[in-house]
Amino acid sequence: MISELEKYKTADTSKVSTWYKAAEVSAIPENGGACIKYNDLQIAIFNFSRRNEWYACQNLCPHKMQMILSRGMIGSSEGEPKVACPFHKKTFSLKTGKNINGDTCDIATYPIKIEEGFVYVGFE
Ligand code: FES
Repeated sequence: MISELEKYKTADTSKVSTWYKAAEVSAIPENGGACIKYNDLQIAIFNFSRRNEWYACQNLCPHKMQMILSRGMIGSSEGEPKVACPFHKKTFSLKTGKNINGDTCDIATYPIKIEEGFVYVGFE
């Protein structure tokens, strides 16, 4: 049975070859994030419940190479979901990974879906 929460995110799913079962939905705080590991990658997962959306991106902030984005502040800017790094407030689109307020490198975003109470992150 497919959960009513089943929802395919934002990033392109056409190249996904592996859906990694990352966590139970209940393990990710509402309107907050958590970090999961996939091989050597740290991935930030966000339960953006105010928007009824989920997002996944790299946990590494490219500004000072800190593993921290899962603890960032999420919000919206002109309709665009975003995460702000807690250290120096560099802000990234959760849809595209683009750095919104500066010239810091963009970040990687990943497809995400919810099925039967679990969060899955898609990898090529
Ligand atoms: S380390 Fe993230 S904004 Fe500086």
